[in-house]
Amino acid sequence: MTEPVTVLGLGAMGYAIASAFTAAGHPTTTWNRSARPAPDGAVRTDDVTAAVTASKTVVVCLTDYEAVRSVLPPLADTLRGRLVVNLTSGSPDAARELAEWAATHDILYTDGAIMTPTDTIGTASALTLHSGHQTEVLSALGGNQPYLGAEPGRAAGFDVALLDLFWTSVAGVAHAFAMARSENIAATELAPLARGISDLLPMVIDEYSARLEEGKHPGDAANLRTAAAGMAHIIETAEARGLDASVMRAAHTLAQRAVDTGHGADGISYLTEMLERNVPENATRGG
Ligand SMILES: NC(=O)c1ccc[n+]([C@@H]2O[C@H](COP(=O)([O-])OP(=O)(O)OC[C@H]3O[C@@H](n4cnc5c(N)ncnc54)[C@H](OP(=O)(O)O)[C@@H]3O)[C@@H](O)[C@H]2O)c1
Repeated sequence: MTEPVTVLGLGAMGYAIASAFTAAGHPTTTWNRSARPAPDGAVRTDDVTAAVTASKTVVVCLTDYEAVRSVLPPLADTLRGRLVVNLTSGSPDAARELAEWAATHDILYTDGAIMTPTDTIGTASALTLHSGHQTEVLSALGGNQPYLGAEPGRAAGFDVALLDLFWTSVAGVAHAFAMARSENIAATELAPLARGISDLLPMVIDEYSARLEEGKHPGDAANLRTAAAGMAHIIETAEARGLDASVMRAAHTLAQRAVDTGHGADGISYLTEMLERNVPENATRGG
C-alpha cells in the first residue's frame, strides 16, 4: 500500500490533487475551510488537526501564501516531524520564508509549482516542479515532477520565469488578434499564420540561452535598431486604429533604451543583460 497523504484545500486544484492521490492508491484524507465535497475514495474531515494527524505527508493547495500562512502556523506542533508539500503558487521569497518557518519547527518542507491545468493532474500531461525536501510522493500527480534542488525557492523561481514568458506571450496573442480584426482580418484567418510565428519561439529560446551563456550578442542576423523601428510602426498602426498599444510600447521602450545606450547593432538577446544591469545589487537572490 502506498503511504497515506493528507490534502489541505479542496478548491479546483486541491480536488484534482486529492483525486490523483486516491487513484494512485494513497489513503487520502482531505480538509477544506468551507464545506466542499471530497473525491470518491478520500476521507473528508472538518477538523484540520485530525486531517494533519492522519498522514506523515501533508499536501497544501490554497489560493495563495496568505491563506497558507493563516492555516499552517496554528498546526506547527502537529506538523512537527511531518512533510509539508506546499503546491500553492507564490513568489520564491515567500517559499523561502515558509521553508525557514518549517525548519524552525522541525517540519520537512517541499515547495512545488503546478504548471498545468487541473484536467492534466494524474495524467501524462501534468508538470509539477519541486524544490526543497526531495519527495517521490508527487509521482501520483502524473507526468513530470522535476526536482530542482534543495534551495526551496527554486521551484517558484522557475514558475515565475515561465509564467513571465507565458503571460507576456498571451498579451501579444490578445493584441495581435485585435490588430488583425482592426484590419478586417478574421481571427480564424490569422490563426494558422500566428501559429507559424509562435513556432519560431523554441528556436529563439535556444539561441538566446546559448548567447547569454557565452555573454555575446551578435546582431548580424537581427539587431536592436531594426527591431525597435519595427516595433514603432506596430505602435503607430495600433494607435491609428484607437487600440491600446501599451504592451508593444513596453517592448519598444526596452529596445529603444538599448539603442540609446549604444547597443543598436547588438542582437536582441542583449536585452536580458540590459535588464539585469538595471537591478540594484542587493535585489538579486542567488540559488
Ligand atoms: N486551477 C488551476 O488550473 C491551477 C493551475 C496551476 C496552479 N494552480 C494553483 O493552485 C492553487 C489553488 O488554486 P485553485 O484553482 O484550487 O483555487 P480555488 O479553486 O479558488 O480554491 C482555493 C482554495 O483555497 C482555499 N482558501 C482560500 N483562502 C483560504 C484561507 N484563508 N484559509 C483556508 N483556505 C483558504 C479555499 O477554501 P474555501 O473553499 O473555503 O474558499 C479553496 O480550497 C493556487 O495557488 C493556484 O495558483 C491552479
